[in-house]
Amino acid sequence: MSISPGSTTDRGLEGVVALESRICDIDGSVGHLVYAGYEIDDLARNSTFEDVVYLLWHGELPSRDARQDLSGQLRRTRTVPPSIVDLIDSAPSTASPMAVLRTAVSALGHEDAEVDDPSPEANRRKAIRLAARMPTIVAAISRAQAGKSPLAPHPDLSMAANFLYMLDGRVPGPKAERIFDACLILHAEHGLNASTFAGRVIAATMADMYGAITGAIAALKGPLHGGANLKVKEMLDEIRASGQDVEAYVMGKLARKERIMGFGHRVYKTIDPRATFLREMLSELSAEQGDMSWLDMSSTLMTVMGREKNLHPNVDFFSASVYALLGISGGLFTPIFAMSRVAGWSAHLLEQWDGNRLIRPRAAYVGPANRKISG
Ligand SMILES: CC(C)(COP(=O)(O)OP(=O)(O)OC[C@H]1O[C@@H](n2cnc3c(N)ncnc32)[C@H](O)[C@@H]1OP(=O)(O)O)[C@@H](O)C(=O)NCCC(=O)NCCS
Repeated sequence: MSISPGSTTDRGLEGVVALESRICDIDGSVGHLVYAGYEIDDLARNSTFEDVVYLLWHGELPSRDARQDLSGQLRRTRTVPPSIVDLIDSAPSTASPMAVLRTAVSALGHEDAEVDDPSPEANRRKAIRLAARMPTIVAAISRAQAGKSPLAPHPDLSMAANFLYMLDGRVPGPKAERIFDACLILHAEHGLNASTFAGRVIAATMADMYGAITGAIAALKGPLHGGANLKVKEMLDEIRASGQDVEAYVMGKLARKERIMGFGHRVYKTIDPRATFLREMLSELSAEQGDMSWLDMSSTLMTVMGREKNLHPNVDFFSASVYALLGISGGLFTPIFAMSRVAGWSAHLLEQWDGNRLIRPRAAYVGPANRKISG
């Protein structure tokens, strides 16, 4: 039976509820984001990224023993096989770090003896390996593109501090570690967003976890999704370099019907709660470093976009300035998003495989009919 055009289609699947999940709840009308029952603001202020990883995978915050156990496993698993370092080194320095990450994560699957073991226990172990190794890969990409060899992970540091350490060999101060850890928490999960949905669709065919995460990374790279944080940085750099008035810049773009990256959201119709938190972090960092330029530019952009389009900042808007003030280069912004979101992606894959059913929607055919090759 064919489906009649227009009658059943929801462009972009807007408003479609595709499945039930226990991982994350979002109320876009009031700007609420909740991981397994905990408000994002509470988690960002009062937990750690490692605790949030456990929460997403198990539905509960860890006990002291469980925390130590997971943290130990993550720390012991951070080193990546030499073949992955060689692969990263062989990529052209002009390649997008997200493209290199996508390739490296796919290749990690070749090195995992459990790649095709679909048991829940093996899948949990693979999730730990991916979460532990993606930061090592991202840092290695950053160093390779600067002509430097990778730094070995530091076993005494948290995931947040270890990542910053692997970039330049300096152990970050407590404030940088806390802010970066909060950024990882804020990006860890977001319901059935495009990359998570892509990952679940792949997982639902009973493909392996590395394939599903590789597909999710591919989806995250797009500028309408995670790639927006890099575009925000490029926009802010362009405004700074040209010395243009921020309001005139935005008005010009809107007049040309161009999008302002970091604004708007499919689900949030008010400010994204992650943006609210990040704005506070940006204020703190700006005051500490005596550089108010990022905050001032961002605040003007936010005012003009609210007034002209009734559009609010999303997570990618303020994270770009926060990362810039932490000294992180723009090319790493989306890969950092990925190494955090792998926690949520893998939680969704585990959930998908616990009672899996193939995800297979239909398309309403609108092409020509009744054609014949001859006669
Ligand atoms: C996120 C996003 C893709 C959601 O889009 P959506 O729900 O599919 O909404 P649409 O793309 O259909 O946009 C609806 C309207 O708002 C406008 N709009 C949405 N986001 C806009 C933005 N950032 N700048 C300018 N206009 C925007 C569209 O042009 C469209 O206007 P129109 O109806 O006059 O054509 C969109 O807001 C966007 O492109 N934002 C910029 C990229 C970004 O920051 N992505 C990260 C999301 S976390």
